[in-house]
Amino acid sequence: MPNINETLRAIRDDFRRISNLKLILDRFNIDLSFSYLNLDLKCPILIAPGPLTQSLSRIKKAADAGYGGVVLKSVVGEDQHGNASMKMLRKRSTFARWVYDDEGNPIFHWNGGLDLRDLREYLKFAREVFRFGRERDFPVIPSFLCHLPKSLDEEWRVEEWEYTTRILVESASIYYGDLPVIMEIDFCPFLKRERLAVDREVVLRWYREAPKLVKEASSNVQVVPKLLNLDFGLDFQMEMIRAARNGGADGIVIANRFFRKYTAKDTGETYFTAHGGMELRLINQRQIREARRITDMPISATGGTYSGRHIIEYLNLGAQNVQVLTYVMKRGFKEAFEDLIFNPKDGFIKLILEGEIG
Ligand SMILES: Cc1cc2nc3c(=O)[nH]c(=O)nc-3n(C[C@H](O)[C@H](O)[C@H](O)COP(=O)(O)O)c2cc1C
Repeated sequence: MPNINETLRAIRDDFRRISNLKLILDRFNIDLSFSYLNLDLKCPILIAPGPLTQSLSRIKKAADAGYGGVVLKSVVGEDQHGNASMKMLRKRSTFARWVYDDEGNPIFHWNGGLDLRDLREYLKFAREVFRFGRERDFPVIPSFLCHLPKSLDEEWRVEEWEYTTRILVESASIYYGDLPVIMEIDFCPFLKRERLAVDREVVLRWYREAPKLVKEASSNVQVVPKLLNLDFGLDFQMEMIRAARNGGADGIVIANRFFRKYTAKDTGETYFTAHGGMELRLINQRQIREARRITDMPISATGGTYSGRHIIEYLNLGAQNVQVLTYVMKRGFKEAFEDLIFNPKDGFIKLILEGEIG
């Protein structure tokens, strides 16, 4: 009988030849499956929306490295005349810095926003990526945000949601064919910077009504809102999930970074930023545990993933997959993958072979 380290090496060698983790695990009689809603994945790690999913060349690198798929950088939607009420979120970053959490994990601070391109420009990119996804059988999930009312009385600009959903579904069907197109809604942490995500009832309305608008715009779409991390406590986080489920969401991403005042450890300088790291992972794991008690809605986990152990933790809590960004930004596609999956101490495969999953 080969020991765990020999099996790990054999799996890794096989992976070098055919970069399909699922297929290799099957060959070693390890019966695990990963998915995003009904879409099967070859690997449980997706690249989360951000700078790594804004260009075809980077997305090719993600596929070559062996990741399970990508969620594209979120785009600001428009109506058919090009009006985009959320265009203030097309904001170029004027500040960027790396900080470290108490475990020594890197966290990227910046003050940018969603994709800078207008919808027309973005669609040229998206179509190329969907074509690549089809050629390589590599899942590509778009993410977007359209008008959000600022009060309970303000009407939705439905045309923005309708037009953007339709045009994205049309483009994405290059990859999806007849399957329903999976789309994330990015309720972005910088909504707080815009003083938008501050009223609980208004936020609940977004989660309840936005999925409905998307589904009314196309019969061939599955919608997955990304949960905001707000300051109103765990019960409110669950209320947002319930609202999304009641609004017809097909799944939920738990959860985006939290917006906070940060004090730099070395200089004492303070600034507002979206934050992540270990703190984010711990609060997100708590939310996933709680969410599992109230709903069986599919969950995609994100936040503070820096090792195979973190991936196993998220999957064991009931997530279908794990979306990673910061660690891959810091280490690069290949190196991060190698470490997350094949690290001989706490890589995903090593922990599976030790029976840590399930
Ligand atoms: C630079 C940067 C850009 C991001 N852009 C988006 C975005 O456009 N849409 C979105 O849903 N999340 C965005 N995020 C959040 C990430 O997708 C991810 O969920 C979050 O950073 C937590 O995962 P991580 O700790 O592995 O980075 C961004 C995060 C960073 C750091």
